[in-house]
Amino acid sequence: MQKIYIRPCVIGLGYVGLPIYIRLQKKFDAIGFDLSKDRVKSLKKGIDLNKEHLKKEICSNKKSFVTDKIQKIKNCNFYIVCVPTPITKSNKPDLKALLSSCKILSKILKEGDIIFFESTVYPGVTENICATYLENKTKLKMNKNFFIGYSPERVNPGDKRHSIEKISKIVAYNTNIKKNINIIKQVYKSITNKVVLVNKIKEAETAKVIENIQRDLNIALFNEIFVLCEKLKLNFNQVIKLASTKWNFIKFQPGLVGGHCLPVDPYYLSFIAKKNRFKMSVLLAGRNMNNYMKTYLYDKILEKLKKLNINLNSNILILGITYKKNVADTRNSLALDIAKKLQKKNRKIKVLDPYVSNNKNIRFVNSKTLNYNKFKAAVVITKHDSLKRIIQNFKSKKIPVIEFFN
Ligand SMILES: NC(=O)c1ccc[n+]([C@@H]2O[C@H](COP(=O)([O-])OP(=O)(O)OC[C@H]3O[C@@H](n4cnc5c(N)ncnc54)[C@H](O)[C@@H]3O)[C@@H](O)[C@H]2O)c1
Repeated sequence: MQKIYIRPCVIGLGYVGLPIYIRLQKKFDAIGFDLSKDRVKSLKKGIDLNKEHLKKEICSNKKSFVTDKIQKIKNCNFYIVCVPTPITKSNKPDLKALLSSCKILSKILKEGDIIFFESTVYPGVTENICATYLENKTKLKMNKNFFIGYSPERVNPGDKRHSIEKISKIVAYNTNIKKNINIIKQVYKSITNKVVLVNKIKEAETAKVIENIQRDLNIALFNEIFVLCEKLKLNFNQVIKLASTKWNFIKFQPGLVGGHCLPVDPYYLSFIAKKNRFKMSVLLAGRNMNNYMKTYLYDKILEKLKKLNINLNSNILILGITYKKNVADTRNSLALDIAKKLQKKNRKIKVLDPYVSNNKNIRFVNSKTLNYNKFKAAVVITKHDSLKRIIQNFKSKKIPVIEFFN
């Protein structure tokens, strides 16, 4: 087989892009590109401010490097795009970052280049929007001069058990040129050996969003049952335990749903459904339920404080504000929203989160200088493992600790 020189470049070095860059370095001289100068500056020092990866992983190949300079990535021939795909204020897909990365690519695209998109999108974005944009901005044609693919990402921040090299990864392409398929296999098999090859990009795009939507909906159902049990004064855990004795009952945990995926993806799919004159009401009902949980939990906190005879004007400590435990991500965090709302009510309410210390809208206390006795109660919203000792200390000092979903 002819040896082909592959120089991969990862565009967007966040939760998704950084682990891919780290894996690629093991086999190739890879380049990581990010528009954020701050992100590149810290990664150059081997620091991942998302607290997911260590210096020895980030800086493992001396011939690989990270950059914010477009000129430095122009000689690469395999680009992997991992930029954010959030929603707008009116819950519409926001493809600005994706189009901005296509704009960058259009300036450096050359004959034979392969571009893979990993950002979560609705079916059709990769071929109809990204590839069309590239064709329009260059004189190059898809599947003649350049090639595209889509590989959805399943990375789960904070979860060391399902790290990228251990999980299966869908890799979709629409070329039938053997040389390209061979390159695609080489690149993706260096990331994980559990590659699932498929030649329909739109199917892979849809599979990715429905993985997250299924989870969002299932949690929504459990949240709804949780709230109902509360209203009916029933023991939720006992109800679920009983239902679980049936062979096909599937268990989920109720809780706050946040982050860059679950609260976003249903809007992507319902957007394209609407464009095709189909209303997806089930998945949006799930979204509404999960969003409602922040109002529910906020009211519960007030109710529990009242029961304990603790005035809302007291010194109260909120523990954990990221969207889920053991991660630093506060995007779409309902815990953060609750903390902000509580702090608006009372300036004496403080926050402690070992993963976050620099949110300008939040008043923090430092764990090192924490004066337990100052607080009348602690409210645990996101229970990071590293908070366990602090929670235990509050309990041993007989200071009430308010917790949920246990
Ligand atoms: N976070 C997750 O757990 C997760 C899991 C699976 C899939 N995804 C999907 O992966 C994609 C990326 O998400 P993420 O969480 O890694 O985002 P992120 O915000 O952590 O990282 C994105 C990075 O891209 C950079 N960036 C933005 N526009 C750029 C551009 N035009 N050129 C170069 N860099 C640019 C940003 O500076 C940032 O560092 C999204 O589509 C998301 O839905 C995320």
